[in-house]
This record gives sequence, C-alpha cells and structure tokens, in this order.
Amino acid sequence: MHTFKELVEDFGAYFGKKHFPASPATLYEPGEYFLSWGGKRIRPVMCLMGNEMFAPIVADAYHMATAIELFHNFTLIHDDIMDEAPLRRGMETVHTKYGPNTALLTGDVMMIQAYESLAKISAQYLPRILTLFNKTAKEVCEGQQLDIDFEKMEDVSLDAYIEMITLKTSVLLAASLETGAVLGGASEGNCRHIYEFGKNLGIAFQVQDDYLDAFGDPEKFGKETGGDIRQNKKTFLLLQALQQADAAQKQELQQLMRENPADKVPRVLAIFRACGTDAWANELKEKYLNTALKHLDDIAVMAVRKKPLEELAAFLIQRDY
Ligand code: IPE
Ligand code: IPE
Ligand code: MG
Ligand code: MG
Ligand code: MG
Repeated sequence: MHTFKELVEDFGAYFGKKHFPASPATLYEPGEYFLSWGGKRIRPVMCLMGNEMFAPIVADAYHMATAIELFHNFTLIHDDIMDEAPLRRGMETVHTKYGPNTALLTGDVMMIQAYESLAKISAQYLPRILTLFNKTAKEVCEGQQLDIDFEKMEDVSLDAYIEMITLKTSVLLAASLETGAVLGGASEGNCRHIYEFGKNLGIAFQVQDDYLDAFGDPEKFGKETGGDIRQNKKTFLLLQALQQADAAQKQELQQLMRENPADKVPRVLAIFRACGTDAWANELKEKYLNTALKHLDDIAVMAVRKKPLEELAAFLIQRDY
C-alpha cells in the first residue's frame, strides 16, 4: 500500500512529461504550459488508490488516471473562461495568456487526448469504463450549466446547490475511485460503496473550495479570491447568509448582487462573517464526510487497505490550497 504523498510523487513522475506534439505550437504550447504547473493530482491519485485497495496497481490504472487528469485540466481551462478567472495554480489562466479562442481549443484537444489514453485500457474493461466515464463527463457539463443558471436566480435552495456541486465536481472524484476499483477487480457492491464514498467526499471538497474562494489566502490558494462573490455564484455561503441575515443585511446583500459596486467583495465578506458562515462550513463538511466514511466502512476489504483514503479525506476537507 502507498500513502497519498507517495502516489502523488509517483503519478507526478509518470504524468510530468510532454503531452502534445511540437506543432502547431500556438495550439499545443498553451496545453503544455497549463499541465506543467501540475495541481494537487487528487483525482488520478484517487484512481490509483481505488485500484490499490483491491490489487497491486495495474498498468491500466495509469492510463485511466492519465485520462482523468487530462479531462480535469480540460474542464479547468473552460471553467476559467466561464468564470472569468485570471489566475489558477498561482499562474495566469490559459485564456488570459493566450486568448479565449485558443483556450477553447486547448481544452478541446486535451479532452480528446484524455480519450486516447482511455483507448489504451484492456478490452475486457473498456466498455464498462467508457460508460462510467461518459456518464460522468456529461454530468460535469450539467453541473457547470446549473452553476451558470444559478448566477441569475434569486432563490436557490441548499438542496439545489448540493445537486449542482455533486454534478460539477463530486461525480468525477467518485468515478476516479470507481474506475480504479473496477480495474482492480472489485465486486459490484464494493464499487458502489467506493463511488458513494467519493461522491460524498467530493461534496465536502467543493464546500471547502467555495469556502476558500471567499476566505482563503490567495498566495496559498493560487486562485483569485472573491470571484464567486463578484459573479453572484450561489455557494452555500451566500445561501446561508441570505437565510441568517437580518432585514438590513439581506437588503444590502441583494443590492450588492444587483449593482456590483467596486467594494462588493469586502462588504459581502463582512456580512458572511457576521452570519457565522464559518461554523456552517464546518457543519456541512462534517455531514458529508461522515456519510462518506460510512461507505468507506462498508467496503469489504481489510481496514488497513482503507488507510490511504482516510488520510486523503482528512486532507481534502482541511486543505488551504
Ligand atoms: C479545482 O480542482 C476545481 C474544483 C472542482 C474545485 P482542484 O482543486 O483539484 O484543482 P488542482 O488540479 O489541484 O489545481
Ligand atoms: C469548477 O468549480 C468545477 C469544474 C471545473 C468542473 P469552480 O469554478 O468552483 O472551480 P475553481 O474554483 O475555478 O477551481
Ligand atoms: Mg472556477
Ligand atoms: Mg466554475
Ligand atoms: Mg471554486
């Protein structure tokens, strides 16, 4: 068994090479630029962990992990266009540096590259893997569209928010684990539990991301903070504040969302703080973490095989980057 840290290093060495041909450089250089900075590598490592829970890591798990990381990076490039984000991983986003048209194509070609990696997986597993991967990829698109739709909506329920973040973020974490497990020969029941573990953990992970977008240290987080507030993203922070605020605060929030003044971010943050959103973030993460851990508990393998995923879960919900 390997630890999270060991697998991050291991996957980093495997993935940290050139991914694209040299020409045309105007298309491929931005892709290399983006990939060269890496990230936390959570999803590919989850795939390897899902695999290693059931067997020594197989070559197919690396093809799968590569496909997942490429797909994830493709979604980030397009997400940064949609969110008008200037920074990611402490560097300029692709559309900021190279323009939106190139960023679209760089993302497109990266997604196709992901499928090339998938195509290397043994025929025995490929149909099942493709079905799950394609379902997940469509769900990410659905979640991203809901995220955009909610910007314009005034009343978004907490349930709708959870559904949206499940689709845009957590299903990919869940599928990373499950595809790894499938390639490790896991039973149907174990696959279901590892997927549900990842899905619930993924919800807590996005809750933390939304928290950091408001309250994180931009130096560590690597992304510009306050972006969600500027764009009226319906994060749990905003939904909670709208619930807890007194009449004056509620009116101020609604006005800030409508009028987008220059001092919008600090003023919204002040209301968030006053409404006790910190405690609420912890409660929400705790709730989904506990559900995740129940599913981890239900996986029928020896407890020692679950250790890496327990460590990963603890890291993901406390992280500051
Ligand atoms: C960012 O994911 C997108 C979200 C779903 C929050 P990560 O925080 O895993 O991004 P990197 O790959 O580590 O940069
Ligand atoms: C993005 O959610 C989810 C996907 C990329 C599919 P966010 O928009 O919150 O992610 P960040 O904060 O830009 O990484
Ligand atoms: Mg974004
Ligand atoms: Mg987004
Ligand atoms: Mg975010």
